[in-house]
Amino acid sequence: MDKIRIVGGTPLRGVIPIGGAKNAALTLMPACLLTDETLSLSNLPHLVDITTMANLLSQHGVSMSLNGHAENGGPTGRVLELNARTITNTTAPYDLVRKMRASVLVLGPLLARCGQARVSLPGGCAIGTRPVDLHLKALEAMGARISVEGGYVVADVPGGRLHGGHVVFPQVTVGGTENTLMAAALADGETVIANAAREPEVCDLAECLQAMGAKITGIGTSTIRVEGVDRLHGADYSVLPDRIETGTYAVAAAITRGDIELVGARRDLMHAVEKVLIEAGVRISDTPRGVRIDADGARIVGVDIMTEPYPGFPTDMQAQLMALMATAEGASMITETIFENRYMHVPELGRMGARVNVHGASAIIRGVPRLSGAPVMATDLRASVSLVLAGLAAEGETIVNRVYHLDRGYERVEGKLAACGAQIERIKDGQPAE
Ligand code: UD1
Repeated sequence: MDKIRIVGGTPLRGVIPIGGAKNAALTLMPACLLTDETLSLSNLPHLVDITTMANLLSQHGVSMSLNGHAENGGPTGRVLELNARTITNTTAPYDLVRKMRASVLVLGPLLARCGQARVSLPGGCAIGTRPVDLHLKALEAMGARISVEGGYVVADVPGGRLHGGHVVFPQVTVGGTENTLMAAALADGETVIANAAREPEVCDLAECLQAMGAKITGIGTSTIRVEGVDRLHGADYSVLPDRIETGTYAVAAAITRGDIELVGARRDLMHAVEKVLIEAGVRISDTPRGVRIDADGARIVGVDIMTEPYPGFPTDMQAQLMALMATAEGASMITETIFENRYMHVPELGRMGARVNVHGASAIIRGVPRLSGAPVMATDLRASVSLVLAGLAAEGETIVNRVYHLDRGYERVEGKLAACGAQIERIKDGQPAE
């Protein structure tokens, strides 16, 4: 498996282009199953998770054509045309679903369009148990009959068409809200989703569904109403910029005390992260093309955060912020409220000299003047990138193993950072580390 080698200590300066949001793309792509016309998605990021979703959709019978263009030495902002004229298979097999939990997002659209679906249960995952019970309860409230057989969710709709329902989520679920929205778009009658997720990626899906002819109100609020329609049509839709990629590179600027312009970033999507970074001592301003993150000569101080559903501080930025806090003046406290096991980066950061104590859902971080490079490894995407960030700030060499996780969610991470002066390179599998 590839590795990333970093020699830390260089303040980053330059420009980083921000790609389309992975988590928006992963719900927009299965929305193509709701129509027999073509859904054309632009600004699609080039990531392993996107390929996994494309493979899943193609085995359901979706035909696809990809038109990319090269920019800054690599493909960005691709356009993917998806056509689900004929759905040939309503089973999402274990081999694909186990690779990526977001595969469960085909369940709602398949049920709505075909009246039946068999989707493998995603199973445990590195950041907690992450069940899909809330997805299933929501679809049951809309008339689906669901059982679990042989590790698969087996669902059908007596009468063939889902009906509107009142769905009250006991806790905010991004994927649960997305599955329900897609199912409700083609259901018979009105669906009300209470305690709906307000994440920008959920709004992106709702707006794409509207462009396809869905009737949805309350987008971006915690009560979404969907009046089902008989059919949806094709649409051209552009994926919103990735707020987590934006936040990650903002931390890269902060942790190296550098100054980076994030081109294509949208500041309105990152209020919670921006507030925390400013409190820590980072300067943030608008540029004509995006956002400038300036920490040149800044004194970064410890801040306390708690992860929460949007508009709160995102759990997907928790590990990156911890890396920054590890180098801040003073102490900080991070409380993770979304996932129960999302501190796998802590022992690895500890190997780089970070002083972190975890007590239940909270972590106390005592900043140190300098981290030191080390060989490290992490088992999830955001934990892995937090180690890259720590490596950028650390003295000496850091080798981040299992780059596979980074490639799931960050497009050309080493290229984007190297363009800003980072000493970073990918060591291909089989190539010596030196
Ligand atoms: C999505 C994001 C992920 C992000 C997370 C929270 C995608 C592809 N992934 O994941 O990057 O970290 O939102 O912002 O968009 N839960 C249940 N039962 C369910 C569903 C969820 O108990 O049926 C729990 C989960 O275990 C978790 C919490 O609800 O504790 C929130 O999970 P959810 O918002 O559903 O996360 P995902 O959609 O999987």
